[in-house]
Amino acid sequence: MPTAKKPAAKETPAKKAPQPVAQVRGMRDTLPEDQPLWDAMRAKAKELSSAYGFERIDTPVLEETSLFVRGVGKQTDVVEKELYNFETSGGETVSLRPEGTAPIVRAYIQHGMFNQPQPVKLWYVAPMFRHDRPQHGRYRQFQQFGCEVLGDGGAVIDAQLIVIGYLFLKELGIDATVQINSIGTAESRANYRNALVSYFRTKRNRLSEEDKKRLLKNPLRILDSKDPAIQDLKAEAPQIVDWLDEESKTHFMHVLEYLDELGVPYQLNPYLVRGLDYYTKTVFEFYANSQDQELAQSSVGGGGRFDGLTELLGGRPTAAAGFAMGMDRVFNLMKATRTAPEPKQSDIFVAHLGEQGRKRALAVFEELRKAGISSGEAFGKESIKGQMELANRRKAKFAVIIGQKEVLDGTAIIRDMDAGTQEIVDVRKIVHELQKKLSK
Ligand code: HAM
Repeated sequence: MPTAKKPAAKETPAKKAPQPVAQVRGMRDTLPEDQPLWDAMRAKAKELSSAYGFERIDTPVLEETSLFVRGVGKQTDVVEKELYNFETSGGETVSLRPEGTAPIVRAYIQHGMFNQPQPVKLWYVAPMFRHDRPQHGRYRQFQQFGCEVLGDGGAVIDAQLIVIGYLFLKELGIDATVQINSIGTAESRANYRNALVSYFRTKRNRLSEEDKKRLLKNPLRILDSKDPAIQDLKAEAPQIVDWLDEESKTHFMHVLEYLDELGVPYQLNPYLVRGLDYYTKTVFEFYANSQDQELAQSSVGGGGRFDGLTELLGGRPTAAAGFAMGMDRVFNLMKATRTAPEPKQSDIFVAHLGEQGRKRALAVFEELRKAGISSGEAFGKESIKGQMELANRRKAKFAVIIGQKEVLDGTAIIRDMDAGTQEIVDVRKIVHELQKKLSK
C-alpha cells in the first residue's frame, strides 16, 4: 500500500512585530510638561494684542496655492522651495499656509473689511508649514503669533507693531534687539535693484552658486547671504538708504523717532531685506541677545510694511503693516533660560472604596467640578492605599473618601492630608465643607 506522502511542513513565516509609526520629519509634539510655557506665550499674545486694540482672526490651514505665489512671491524660498502644495481629489491646487499675512489680506478683501472703520487690526496664533531642511529652531510645522494692521500708512503703526513684538519677548523674559531697515517703495527698490545687479555682476566670479542664482532671480537676497567670502563685497555694495525716495526716507525717520521715544533699542541694518516679496518701506527683525550662538543667530520674529499686497491680491490699495513671532523659537529661548512652572495641582483628591463607593465618588467628583473645585481621582484603581499615595504625590490638601459604609450612611470622610486627621461629614454638604476648609 502506497504510503501517503507526508505533506512538507509548511514554514510559517515568523510574525513580525509591528513597528512603531515614525513621526513625520520636521514635526514636533508638545508634551504636557512643555504646555505651561506655551500657555504663557499664548496668554501674553492675547494680553498684548487686546491691549493694543487688535481683534483675533483665524484663517484656514489650507489656501489656494496662487495666494502665496502672488502674495509672497514666486521667486522666494518660501514659495519656490518650501511650500507644501498638492492637488486635491477635486482638482484644486492648494497649499498648507507657510505664513499668515497673505491669508489675512485675502480675508480682509473677501469679507469687505475695507468698509469697516480703518485701520483694521487683527492678530493670530496659528500653525504654519514650510518644507525646509529641519534643524534646531527650524521646523516644518511651527507656530506664529502675528499682528497685522490694514488701512493705515502712518509711521506710528510700524513703531507700535515693533513695540508689541519687543514687549512680547521682554515680558516673557527674553532680552532682544530689533534690527531695522527701510526698503522703500516698489519704484525706489527697482532702481536700487538695478544698481545692485550692476555692482554684483562685476564681482560675479566671487559669488557662490547660490548667490549667482540670487543675482538672476532675487538680487536683494544676496544682501542676506551668510557666505563669509562675500562679506567685504557686501560692505562696498550700494546701500538702499541712498536709493530711498523722499517719502520713504521721512517715513523711516519717523519710525525711528517713535522708537526712540518709546525706548525700544534698535540697530540699523542696511542689509536687512526679508525673504518675502510683499514688503515696502519699513522692515524689521527681532534677535534674542542669547549666549547660545544657535539661538541668537536666527530671528525670533520679523515683519514690516506691505502697502502693495492688498492691491496685488485684488483689493483696493491699502497701506498695511505687521509682524510675526516664531513661537517655537521663543519657546526654545524660554526653555533655555528658565524652568517651567510646576503644573497646578488640585487641592482635593476624591478616593473610593468598592463598587458602591466608586459610584458615589463619581457623583461627588462631578458635584465638585460644577462648583469650580478641581479635584484629582483614580477611579480605575482599586486599592485605597494606592489612591492615598497618589493623593500625596499630587500634593492634595484634602482627600474625600467614600466606601460602602459612607454610601449607606449618606456621608463622606474628609481627610486632612498633612495632619492625617479625618472627619465624617454629610455627603450633601461636601461642597460647602470643602469650600470652608479651602478658604482657611
Ligand atoms: P518670517 O520672517 O518668514 O515672516 O517668519 C516670522 C518668524 O517665524 C521668524 O522670525 C521665525 O521666528 C519664525 N519661523 C519662520 N520659519 C520658521 C521655521 N521653519 N521654524 C520655526 N520658526 C520659523 C513672516 O512669516 C511674515 N508673515 C511676518 C509678517 C507679518 N510680516 C508682516 N506681517
